[in-house]
Formats: sequence, C-alpha cells, structure tokens
Amino acid sequence: MEDFKLHNDEKKLLKIFQEAYKNKNITKLSVEELAKNELMGSETKVMRTALWLSAEDKKLVNIIENKSKIAKLTEEGKKVVEKGLPERQVANYMIENDLKNIPIKELGNILDKSEVNPALGNLKKKKIAKIEKGNIIIENLQYEDKEENTLNKIKINEENKNSDLNNYNDEEKKLINNLQKRGFIAIEEEVDRAIELTEKGIEFIKNNIIEIKEEISQLTREHIVSGKWKDCHIRPYDAKIPSEEVYPAKLHPMTRIINDVKEVLIGMGFKEVKNPIVETEFWNFDVLFEPQDHPARDMQDTFFLRYPNKGEIPEMVKDIKSIHEKGMVGDKKISKGWRYEFDEEISKKTVLRTHTTVSSIKYLASLTDEEKEKPHKIFSIDRVFRNEAIDYSHLPEFYQCEGIILAEGVHFDNLIGLLKEFLNRLGFEQVRIRPAYFPFTEPSLEAEVFVEGRGWLELLGAGVFRPEVVEPLGINKPVLAWGIGLSRLAMLRWGLTDIRELHKNELNWLKKA
Ligand code: DAH
Repeated sequence: MEDFKLHNDEKKLLKIFQEAYKNKNITKLSVEELAKNELMGSETKVMRTALWLSAEDKKLVNIIENKSKIAKLTEEGKKVVEKGLPERQVANYMIENDLKNIPIKELGNILDKSEVNPALGNLKKKKIAKIEKGNIIIENLQYEDKEENTLNKIKINEENKNSDLNNYNDEEKKLINNLQKRGFIAIEEEVDRAIELTEKGIEFIKNNIIEIKEEISQLTREHIVSGKWKDCHIRPYDAKIPSEEVYPAKLHPMTRIINDVKEVLIGMGFKEVKNPIVETEFWNFDVLFEPQDHPARDMQDTFFLRYPNKGEIPEMVKDIKSIHEKGMVGDKKISKGWRYEFDEEISKKTVLRTHTTVSSIKYLASLTDEEKEKPHKIFSIDRVFRNEAIDYSHLPEFYQCEGIILAEGVHFDNLIGLLKEFLNRLGFEQVRIRPAYFPFTEPSLEAEVFVEGRGWLELLGAGVFRPEVVEPLGINKPVLAWGIGLSRLAMLRWGLTDIRELHKNELNWLKKA
C-alpha cells in the first residue's frame, strides 16, 4: 500500500472488490451495484472514486461504458397497458353490452376525443370491425393483438431492468416502432457503467490488506485528548487548490519592517534604547562635535522649536565647550578643536531630533565609570524630522535605525563585518562599502546594497566615533556606530518608488503588502 496514497473512498471501493473477488472471483461490477454497497452509497461517489483509481498514476481500475438503446413505456403507454388500446376498449364495450354494432358518434362516450380516430383506424386495420355509414360493425371480437403483447413485454422487461432494444426480435421491433409513433413507447439511450479491476488492480487487492480508517478533515482537541486520532485517517490538504484570497488583520507594513529589524538586531545581541522626539541642540549636535556656526546644522534641515524654545543641558557642557573651542579634554589636548566661541545658549535651544545618533550618544553619556569598562551593544529605532519639501523620496518625518558597539579592541573591519551580516540578515545578499564623511565619525563609510532592477543603492552610514566625541564622555575605547534609513528599507522591501505610498494608507495596498 506504500506506493499509493489512497483516499479513503478509494480504499473503500477496492475493499468492495476485494470481497467480491474473494467470494466469487469477480473483477467487474456495475456502478449501480457498487453504489448499493454501504461503503459507497451513491453512483456519483462510485464514479468519482473510480476516476481517481483509473488515473495515470494508479491505473487500478478501468471504467467501462456501455451505451444502449432502451424501450420504455410513456405515461400514455402505461395507461393503455392498464385499460387496453383504444380499439380494445371499443371491443370490450361491445362484448360487455352484447352489441353487434354501434354508431361512431357513440365512441365519444367510451374514449377520449383524441383516441377516436386512431381507434377507428385500428379497428379496421386489425379487422376487428368494419365501418359502414357511420356505424361500426363487428367482425371479430376475439382477436389477439401483437401490439398489446409487445406493450406487456416491455412492461415486464422494464420491471426486470431488461429494456435493451436488442432483447426484441425484428417483428417486435416493427411493432415497437409503430407504438412509438402512437406515443405509447419511447426509445432512450442509456449509458451503463461498470468498473473493472485492471491486472494491477487485481494484484493489488490480492496482496494488500485494505484498512479503512475513519477519516477526519479537521483535527480537534477531542481527537487528540481521547487518542482517537491514532485510529483516524487525517485527510491531507491539497495546497495547490486555488482558493479565495483572504486578507486577515495585520500590522502596518512600516510596523512590520520595524519589528523585523528589531528581531534581527536583538538576534545579533543588541539592546534597544528609546529617547524623546524633542532634543536640545546640545544632544543633537554639540556632543557629536558639530560646530555651532557650521552649516552642518542646517545641512540636516533642522526644525527649530519655538515652544519650548529651551531645554536643560548637563554640567558636561563645559567639557563639550572645551573640545569645540580648543580640542581639550580636561588638560589633555587631543585635537585642534574648531577654534570659535562656543555658546551655551545655543546648546539649550530645542529642535526636533534630526537623527537617532542622539540616542547612541546619550546612552554613552549615561554610562557610569564601572559600566564603561564593559562592552555594550545598543540600538534605537525612532522617528526623526527634517524640514524638507515632500516629494517621492523625501518626507519631513521618517524612521531611522541606529546602533553602536562599545568594546575594547573593536575596529573598522569589525564594523564592516557587522554591517554586512546585518544587511544579509535583512535580506540583501550583495553589500558594498564606500568611504564617506560624517561630522562625528572618523573613518566613515557608506554601505550600498544591490537591488535587482535598481542597481546599487545607498542604505547605511557608519564609522568609528571620533575621539572628540567619546573622550569628553570619559570613554577611551573604540565605539563603532551606524545608522540606517528605515523608510528607505521599507520602500525596497515593498517595491515602492514613492516614499509617500508608505503613509497613504491606501487600503488595497495595505491588504496586499
Ligand atoms: N546620523 C547620520 C544621518 O542621519 C547617519 C549616521 C552616519 C549614523 C554614520 C551613524 C554613523 O551612527 O556612524 O545621516
């Protein structure tokens, strides 16, 4: 039985044959007969099952069709078998009433109007009576009628399911033809179907024990708890059957991207941090060694806030001032600095966060001396804001994902390896690295991914935080940092060429994305 995956109905049909073969060596059964077996129950089921069993991959049975013509009584025919043909009715009437003749007019009392003419014709033809001057005159009332005999035979044959036209001889066939014209008999075509085991089928039923288990199409808790599942046949699904499309409730595509990226990063050992949308220029720029008078601050098209227009900044601002003005960390000179006058009032001014790098730097600044000794891997996924005109590739508000690794001995190569792994895990197989510039990293890089049909696309910026960024925070170990545009990632994932599509919430798209 291993070779075939048999449906329960197929097993049942074969089981019937197995019994029939065992008892009487039977290998062919009519569909009608098979349908009567309680394992089948209907001709449709027999035929459907036989079709499966006759399919190319199994060929256990053949379906044999026998077309035949059958003779059946019509409704009228059934009536005349009861009452006799119209001419017989006239003859009987005359016998009963002991009449030698009757006027034609009187036939209306005996027969239907429509029967009168055929009756007259046949009375003459069968030599039962002559018609003279409107009178029917008896000739022979004791006649034998072959038409009646044929009708009776048809009736009996029908009862015995033996109506094939071939059961009648030539004379009878002529009579049948006549009776058909008189509307008492109908000739119909009938297809007789039988199922026959093939050689392979016979081998199969001889050599296999056919076990029929109760079939279930849905496994329920009861089946499992009661252990009944062990005795049941679980009907397999046909995954190829086309079905109606269903659109279950689901998360917004953007949310899904965010969740996916989080999962990847958590899988790579990163921990998530969160920060507010409103920031001081201190955290958004100063700490990242972006000079206050530098166009870099406008490079990012910052939204400057009127309310609240000032925020609190930490004591540490003194150290940041010192690095900006003179490149000094405490009394150690680490670089030239920007050599301008740092203004703490500017540091206090509020902006809408322009990048998530704020979260990375705030995290570093929050570490205690003891914590600074340990390695750290953190990320943040958040909305950032830039005062940009909306077009197909720009929105004033979008998502960034950002992360850092702080650890003894990590270097630029590790960063490249990490980013390749990260991008691979996001589904980009080809990644390439280019040198780049960011105010707070040195060296810096940009990572591009290859997208079929679109070529190389820039996706990610990264670098090693400059000493001017980390040393004022008391960190003397390398910090690898990277940031990725999530909206860009979402566009690639969903094949969008217009970033606005992501937020239109067009239902059709949401359903299908
Ligand atoms: N903050 C940068 C931006 O918004 C992205 C970035 C580049 C983040 C390099 C980083 C980095 O952490 O190392 O364009």
